[in-house]
Amino acid sequence: MLQRTCNTILALWFIFPFSFGFCEEETFYRDVAIIGGGASGTFAALKLKEQGKSIIVIEKENSLGGHTNTYQDPGTRQTAEYGVQVFHNQLVVRDLFKRLNVSWTIAILQDDPFPPRFLDPKTAEPVHYSSPNATAALGAYAAQLAKYPDLERGFFLPDPVPEDLLTPFGEFLQKYPDIQDATFIAFSYGQGLGDYLKQPTLYVFKNFGLDIVRDISSGFIVTANHNNYDIYARAAEVLQRDLLLNSIVASTTQRDDNGVDMNIRTPNGNTRVLAKKLLITIPPKLENLGHFALDHCESITFARFNNTGYYSSLVNNTGLPQNFTAYSVSPDTQQNIPILPGVYNVVPTSIDGVFAIKYGSPSSLSDDYVKREIISYVKKLQANGHANPVSGDPTFVAYANHDPFELTVSPAEIARGFYRDFYSLQGYRSTWYTGAAFHTQDSSMLWRFTDSYVLPPLLKSFGS
Ligand SMILES: Cc1cc2nc3c(=O)[nH]c(=O)nc-3n(C[C@H](O)[C@H](O)[C@H](O)COP(=O)(O)OP(=O)(O)OC[C@H]3O[C@@H](n4cnc5c(N)ncnc54)[C@H](O)[C@@H]3O)c2cc1C
Ligand SMILES: *[C@@H]1O[C@H](CO)[C@@H](O)[C@H](O)[C@H]1NC(C)=O
Ligand SMILES: *[C@@H]1O[C@H](CO)[C@@H](O)[C@H](O)[C@H]1NC(C)=O
Ligand SMILES: *[C@@H]1O[C@H](CO)[C@@H](O)[C@H](O)[C@H]1NC(C)=O
Ligand SMILES: *[C@@H]1O[C@H](CO)[C@@H](O)[C@H](O)[C@H]1NC(C)=O
Repeated sequence: MLQRTCNTILALWFIFPFSFGFCEEETFYRDVAIIGGGASGTFAALKLKEQGKSIIVIEKENSLGGHTNTYQDPGTRQTAEYGVQVFHNQLVVRDLFKRLNVSWTIAILQDDPFPPRFLDPKTAEPVHYSSPNATAALGAYAAQLAKYPDLERGFFLPDPVPEDLLTPFGEFLQKYPDIQDATFIAFSYGQGLGDYLKQPTLYVFKNFGLDIVRDISSGFIVTANHNNYDIYARAAEVLQRDLLLNSIVASTTQRDDNGVDMNIRTPNGNTRVLAKKLLITIPPKLENLGHFALDHCESITFARFNNTGYYSSLVNNTGLPQNFTAYSVSPDTQQNIPILPGVYNVVPTSIDGVFAIKYGSPSSLSDDYVKREIISYVKKLQANGHANPVSGDPTFVAYANHDPFELTVSPAEIARGFYRDFYSLQGYRSTWYTGAAFHTQDSSMLWRFTDSYVLPPLLKSFGS
C-alpha cells in the first residue's frame, strides 16, 4: 500500500533526485509509534526497545518527562522539584533506575521541619485547625482500600460497581467516621483532584492507594542527587534517534488492523511515520486526539472525560522567611478541606528564597489567571505580616501547567461500565493506550501497569 508506493517512489527518487523532491521528507518505519514521552511513554519506549522492537517517540515538548519538573539554580546548582517528587519502593522502579544508572535512596517523609501555618486560601488568614493524629484513621482507610485489591493494579472494578466507590468522598467520610482523621493527609497526597469532597470515592482511592499508605511509614524512593529529571535525561540518551521532540501528529491518513500512517509536524518540517502499532500515552481527551482519525466508538468514549486543573510553581522575591510553610484549609468545610480554585500550599525549597506553590482547580484555568491568583495570594501573605519587606513583586522562577490533570467520568458512567468499555479499546485499530487516565496519577504505578497490562498484549499482537 502506501508504504510500498513510497518505497517505489524512493527508489525512483534515488535515480532521478530532481523530479521527486516531494518525497524528500524522511519516513520513519517502526514497529511501534509512541505518542507522549512522559512517565508512561518513556518507560514503554525503553521496554519495547529492550524487547527488540523498533520505536519512535513523538513528544510535543522539548524534553521527556511530562509532569517531572526539576529546576536547577544556575548559581548554586541546588535543585527544586516542582513536579514529581517521590517514587514507590517497587521492583519496577528499582529496575528502571538500575537500567538508567540513576542512584536512589529511601526517604521517610518527616513531619514538616517547621510547624506549618494553616491558612484560608481566600484570605491567607489563620484558621483554627490542628492536624489530628492520623495513625488509626490511616489504618481504617487502608482497611477500606483492602476491600478492592484489583484497584491497585488498574481500573479493575467489581461488577456491579459497589455503591461506596460511586459515593462522593464527603459522604463516604460521613458513613465511615473512623477514617475522618486521615482526610487531610489523603487530600495532601492526592493533590490535583479538584473538588475533593465531591469526587466519587473511586478517584480518591485510586490516587491515595495502599502503596502510598505503606510508603508513608516505610519510606519512598527518591533520586539520590535530588534531580528527578535525570531519569529522563538518561532515557533520552538511550532513545536518542528514536525521539521526535517538539513534535506533534498533524494528521493520520490510515489507522486500521494493518497499522498507522501519520504525518508529524517537527521543528525541521513535516515527517511521516509508518508504524505497525500505535501506543497513545497522552491524556485521552477529545481535544488531544483530534488528529488521530478517531471513529465514532472512540470519540464517544473519550468525550465522557472531565478534567481538573493543577498548576505548580517556584516563586521568589516573596520576603517570606526560609522556615515559612503554609497549608490551605477552610474554616467551615468538612474536615477543613479547602474549596478550590485556590493555593494548596506554600513550602520552602532547598534554594534560598525560592518557594514551591501549588494551585488546584476543579476545571482548567488560563495560565494568566492562575499566575495572577498565586501572586495575589503571596501579597496577602505579605499584607498579613508573614513576610519581611521586599522591593518589587514576587516573581516566578518556574511555572508548569499540568492540564488536563485528573480525568474523571460521572458516577453513572462508572456504574454503567465506562472503564470496561475504555479498556476494551486496547488493540482496536492497532492502537494501544497507557497513561494516568488508564490507572492513576503516579509514575511508579504507571510503570507497573504498563509493564503488566499494556506491553505484554501489545507484544503478543505482533504474533511470534
Ligand atoms: C505537581 C505534580 C506532582 C506529582 N508528584 C508525583 C510524585 O511525587 N510521584 C509520582 O509518582 N507521581 C507524581 N505526579 C503524577 C505523575 O506526574 C503522573 O502520574 C505521571 O506523570 C503521568 O504519566 P503519563 O505518562 O500519564 O503522563 P505525562 O507524564 O503527563 O506524559 C504525557 C506526555 O505527553 C506529552 N504530550 C501531551 N500532549 C501531546 C501531544 N498531543 N503530542 C505529543 N506529546 C504530547 C506531554 O508533553 C508529556 O510529556 C505528580 C504530578 C504533578 C503534576
Ligand atoms: C550505565 O552504566 C553502565 C556501566 O557503567 C554503562 O554501560 C551504560 O551505558 C550506562 N547506561 C546509561 C543509560 O547511562
Ligand atoms: C522562623 O524563624 C524565625 C527566626 O528567623 C523565628 O522567629 C520563627 O519562630 C520561626 N518560625 C517557625 C515556624 O519555625
Ligand atoms: C497516634 O495514635 C497512635 C495510635 O492510634 C499512637 O500509637 C501514637 O502514639 C499516636 N501518636 C502521637 C504523636 O500521639
Ligand atoms: C528571582 O529569580 C529570577 C529568575 O531566576 C532572578 O532573575 C532573580 O534574581 C531572583 N530574585 C531573587 C530576589 O532571588
